[in-house]
Amino acid sequence: MIIIVAAMTRNHVIGKDNLIPWHIEEETQHYRNLVEGKTLLMGKATFDLMKHPYAHGHDIVVTHSRINHKAADVCGSVDGALKKAKEYGPDVFVIGGQSIYEQTIGIADKMLLSYIKKDYEGNKFFPKFSNVEWREVSVEEFTDFAYVVYIRKRNQTLQHI
Ligand SMILES: NC(=O)c1ccc[n+]([C@@H]2O[C@H](COP(=O)([O-])OP(=O)(O)OC[C@H]3O[C@@H](n4cnc5c(N)ncnc54)[C@H](OP(=O)(O)O)[C@@H]3O)[C@@H](O)[C@H]2O)c1
Repeated sequence: MIIIVAAMTRNHVIGKDNLIPWHIEEETQHYRNLVEGKTLLMGKATFDLMKHPYAHGHDIVVTHSRINHKAADVCGSVDGALKKAKEYGPDVFVIGGQSIYEQTIGIADKMLLSYIKKDYEGNKFFPKFSNVEWREVSVEEFTDFAYVVYIRKRNQTLQHI
């Protein structure tokens, strides 16, 4: 399953000048609990922002550069990264940034989204999506954000087969 994880404002801001424009400890911890130990797929800019890769999981980085990294798999395309992820197990967690969300939202099965309650300005955005394609299955309220889980509607049918 391809699972997107993101935090955004209600206006879909996810980043500003290569940074995340908020620091909300409770959201950071929540995010960590979701992704720690998992197979993570990310763009090169997001990878560069992660100071300490999470323990015991697999990091897969997409870049056009021919680089090697001792703590991550490096792939030259999103398709290549998804194939690599399958070697580690059925689920891959797509953790950004904007360019990677744009390239995977059309094929993702599930989205785990934190909506930050305060507004922030930014220049990186999560793609717009429609409730024609996505069904909200749960909402959990926290002090500074709401955590909302969506599944792609076609999967609801498949779940009953
Ligand atoms: N709020 C959140 O949940 C969240 C999560 C993650 C990131 N962010 C924010 O998002 C922003 C970063 O997003 P971004 O779009 O600039 O960067 P990004 O998606 O993290 O990385 C972009 C880079 O990934 C590589 N790439 C992307 N598509 C590729 C493809 N099809 N084939 C090969 N390489 C590919 C390229 O690297 P090369 O240039 O090396 O070829 C590209 O420059 C930051 O502001 C960050 O803080 C927010």
